[in-house]
Amino acid sequence: MSGLQQSFKNVMGWVDARLPVTETYEKHLSKYYAPKNFNFWYFFGVLSVVVLVNQLLTGIWLTMSYVPTADGAFASVEYIMRDVEYGWMLRYMHSTGASAFFLVVYLHMFRGLMYGSYQKPRELVWILGMLIYIALMAEGFFGYLLPWGNMSFWAGQVIVSLAGAIPFVGEELATWVRGDFNISGITLNRFFALHVVLIPLVLIVLVFLHILALHEVGSNNPDGVDIKKNLDENGKPLDSIPFHPNYTIGHDLPAIVGFLFLFCIVMFYYPDGGGYLIEHPNYEPANPLKTPDLIAPVWYYTPFYSMLRAATFPLFGLDAKFWGLVVMAGAIALPIVLPWLDKSPVKSIRYKGWGSKIFLAMFIISFFILGYLGVQHPTPVRTLVAQLCTAIYFGYFLLMPWYTSVEKTKPVPERVTMP
Ligand code: HEM
Repeated sequence: MSGLQQSFKNVMGWVDARLPVTETYEKHLSKYYAPKNFNFWYFFGVLSVVVLVNQLLTGIWLTMSYVPTADGAFASVEYIMRDVEYGWMLRYMHSTGASAFFLVVYLHMFRGLMYGSYQKPRELVWILGMLIYIALMAEGFFGYLLPWGNMSFWAGQVIVSLAGAIPFVGEELATWVRGDFNISGITLNRFFALHVVLIPLVLIVLVFLHILALHEVGSNNPDGVDIKKNLDENGKPLDSIPFHPNYTIGHDLPAIVGFLFLFCIVMFYYPDGGGYLIEHPNYEPANPLKTPDLIAPVWYYTPFYSMLRAATFPLFGLDAKFWGLVVMAGAIALPIVLPWLDKSPVKSIRYKGWGSKIFLAMFIISFFILGYLGVQHPTPVRTLVAQLCTAIYFGYFLLMPWYTSVEKTKPVPERVTMP
């Protein structure tokens, strides 16, 4: 052993006696035994981490030049775009990052649905994931108000005023959230505080717990086979490989490079995504006297916005707006209880029956249609289609106890199958 290696060993020995660095490294990386059949769908967890880091770093830099006041916000964003060195790049990294975040998280969630990763013993991994998703939606919403463009203003107005639909306390609640009778500089200031301090902290803690919970029970895999059933003489699962360096270098690193390549294409060449990533009315400053032609949220919220608008009739003396709010909140919250809705004896869609396959396909198609309808002016036909798709969305979850218990499943292999 060279002198340098000996010195490193001594230093690590000293640190490890006070802080379990080597133990943590082994538990979560070099001796974390992951199933050896991970495929394409296992890229999106690590990509979510990459985007989270991007958002945190670029967000800190943007905050250095951004002014969170009604008079200064819009001009400060223009200043970042024109005068701050590489300010345009920081802003586009952050705005493209927001869309990329939802894209990778949606693909990550879809993988969970396909392979039954929410089933026992990963219920808590899923619940923490859902809490991350809800926090992410809040983070995106608060951030969207900050440029103080006309769409920022009106989207904020529409969403906060939804609280007004709650019986008895609604109007006061909306005023309390805004801190004013209308969306104003006060609202902007508090949304800024939530966007740059509270929600990022919540997200970091939740992501930490999410990964900790996953490593406690171990990763699922595309076959849904429990790899802990087949162990070698040292107690290591036969169908596993150490996460580091096998997955870090051999699987995740190429995925990160590929992802960054696509990210750069969008960021440098299509930063506003034709009005879908940064909406056109947001190039004008907030104007309470000028409503945009069509108030539509950014693409990642549009399926839920469609469901909000799909409730068109009053019920039990409560108006349609209230039921829209209930439907939208229900659609966002319902997946939390998914682990208890799936009664199937198998995890992966590969071995589930036709019921699960058809319902999952219909669910995804409906989600896309709802997303499309959310950026269109409503017409009677579109509203009817949105109502049908909303019913399918809820049907996927609420009928799951039935179709997963009656369908015929295929036998699950003893050992994992390689892609
Ligand atoms: C900031 C957002 C998120 C980050 C950084 C993140 C990170 C990760 C990472 C690194 C893994 C392990 C690697 C992998 O399996 O891909 C993982 C696994 C998992 N995540 Fe997430 N996640 C996020 C959001 C979510 C959401 C929104 C859900 C679902 C509601 C979710 C559900 C799961 C599940 C079920 C697993 C286990 C998958 C398996 O073992 O098959 N995650 N997550």
